Amino acid sequence: METNVQTGIGYIKLGDFLKENEQEFLDLWEEQIIVHSAVDNRAQIRENGYLMYQLIINAITSKLSEDDLRSLAHKVAQERVDANNNIGEFVYNVNLGRSILIKCVTHSGIILEEIQTIIDLINSKFDLFCFYAVSRYTDLKDLKLQEKNVYITQTHKDRLAILGQMSSSFVHEFRNPLTSVMGFIKLLKNDYPNLPYVNVISSELEQLKFKISQFLHTSKLNTVVENRDEDIMIKGLIEEVTDFLYASIVDGNIQITSTIDANAKVHGDRSELKQVFLNLLMNAIDAVCEEDIYRVINIHSEVNEEHITIMISNNGPTISADAAEFIFEPFYTTKKLGTGIGLFVCKNILEKNHGKIVYNSDDDLTTFQITLPII
Ligand SMILES: Nc1ncnc2c1ncn2[C@@H]1O[C@H](COP(=O)(O)OP(=O)(O)OP(=O)(O)O)[C@@H](O)[C@H]1O
Ligand SMILES: [Mg+2]
Repeated sequence: METNVQTGIGYIKLGDFLKENEQEFLDLWEEQIIVHSAVDNRAQIRENGYLMYQLIINAITSKLSEDDLRSLAHKVAQERVDANNNIGEFVYNVNLGRSILIKCVTHSGIILEEIQTIIDLINSKFDLFCFYAVSRYTDLKDLKLQEKNVYITQTHKDRLAILGQMSSSFVHEFRNPLTSVMGFIKLLKNDYPNLPYVNVISSELEQLKFKISQFLHTSKLNTVVENRDEDIMIKGLIEEVTDFLYASIVDGNIQITSTIDANAKVHGDRSELKQVFLNLLMNAIDAVCEEDIYRVINIHSEVNEEHITIMISNNGPTISADAAEFIFEPFYTTKKLGTGIGLFVCKNILEKNHGKIVYNSDDDLTTFQITLPII
């Protein structure tokens, strides 16, 4: 598209005047522009200022193709994105150029009747220039962001795939000897019921087995696994878990209360749902043990016609607001020896069983809340 061709005699004179004062204009402008970039790109900015100045002279004296204006704007936008420079600076510098130029025009001796039209013309070119440059800059930045997100997602998937491979071989290497050691411990316990430390050993081995199956579960999330769903009484399941964690609860001097509906039944994979409560209770135990306080964990349920909601609360440290975004993501952990897959596994198991998990954390309590459909 072509802009209006200027014919008034004053326009030609003004064009000459601007050409004569080109260096002075650029010097004055360059003195006041903002350049914050790490790499000093003043020369490039001055060059772009010069090109824009020429386009304005063209707009005043003859024709200005909108394509020229657009391609300069796109070039500047690309340079700014490549140099990782702020677009705010650019807008400031362009508007600075506009106001110096308008001042220059009003002092050029051009007749009064023509001044307003020229100012309108200059403003419209600058507005269009800014529009093209900022739009392109935003598009390019969005594209970069998308590329970054794709990269992050891909890396994330790669890590999960590696974890999958790791855990499969891990399980092969460890499961068989572990099962046999656990069997022998059981025999030992039968033969020598008073043998010290045997309970500790078998509880530690159970934990190890649990960790291994947790890894295995993470690696199998997207594959079809054998369906082992059954009807489960929630109260019984939670009691099994608290019994399993009895040693840690006593060791941490934790007051634990549990009020679970005695009739609530859900349908699902027992060992998976057990893993959910184990993860959440182990997290609660870790949390309260971080502080030297009167340690409390409450497990409570509410049932309506369709769902059971189980709340596991503790009075340990608050979960920071920043963590909200990542807490259910794999590998997010604040613990020295944490793997950060506990909550990730919980969320996946619950979603698979048509349930959900949310949490709330304030100065008094941290509560993880699970909802599952009842039968
Ligand atoms: N009840 C809780 N109170 C405070 N912070 C918690 C609680 N539960 C989870 N968190 C925070 O969420 C993080 C992630 O928990 P998650 O269970 O996924 O991993 P982890 O416990 O660190 O490691 P693991 O894989 O052994 O479970 C924890 O490191 C902790 O910072
Ligand atoms: Mg955990």
